[in-house]
Amino acid sequence: MADTLFSLAEGIRRCTACPLYKNRTLAVPGEGGVGARLMLIGEAPGAQEDRVGLPFVGRSGKFLDLMLQKIGLLRNEVFVTGACKCRPLDNRMPMHKELVMCRELWLNKQIELVSARVVVLLGGAALWSVLGEKDVKKWHGRVVVRDARMYFVTYHPAAGMRFPAIRKIMERDFEKLKKMV
Ligand code: URA
Repeated sequence: MADTLFSLAEGIRRCTACPLYKNRTLAVPGEGGVGARLMLIGEAPGAQEDRVGLPFVGRSGKFLDLMLQKIGLLRNEVFVTGACKCRPLDNRMPMHKELVMCRELWLNKQIELVSARVVVLLGGAALWSVLGEKDVKKWHGRVVVRDARMYFVTYHPAAGMRFPAIRKIMERDFEKLKKMV
């Protein structure tokens, strides 16, 4: 049977493909619908997201909402997910092998199904997972076309929230994004 966003979300919630499932409360498949104008991919769930099973519900989620507001979009108009669907303990970065597993099993299929006009990579984990690049400083603010899909790179909202200089850069990046959506 063909995948749907719903069937993928069910699969993600039951996934035991890597050891991260052992410590999760809830996996976080993502939120939004098919045909959203924008798809945003973060890193991995934090403590609050792990508790409720939804992406970006904590402080960085508020910051993300602010950035979206600047480009005239509401959270319910976009699809939001993470490069990794389960919380790594102590909020460590997901490991490369965890990112690869999650990308091959879930993220690539979500990207295809959502089929957003632009896919925004928020921070290093998403940049590495999707484009195989490491340096957010080098790639932010840039559009990359890969397999006929448009990707836009910027920093993770947690970084924008903590560092005023990165917040400024993100504001400029989102201005560019506004012109694309
Ligand atoms: N990725 C993140 O970076 N944060 C979330 O809440 C979910 C996915």
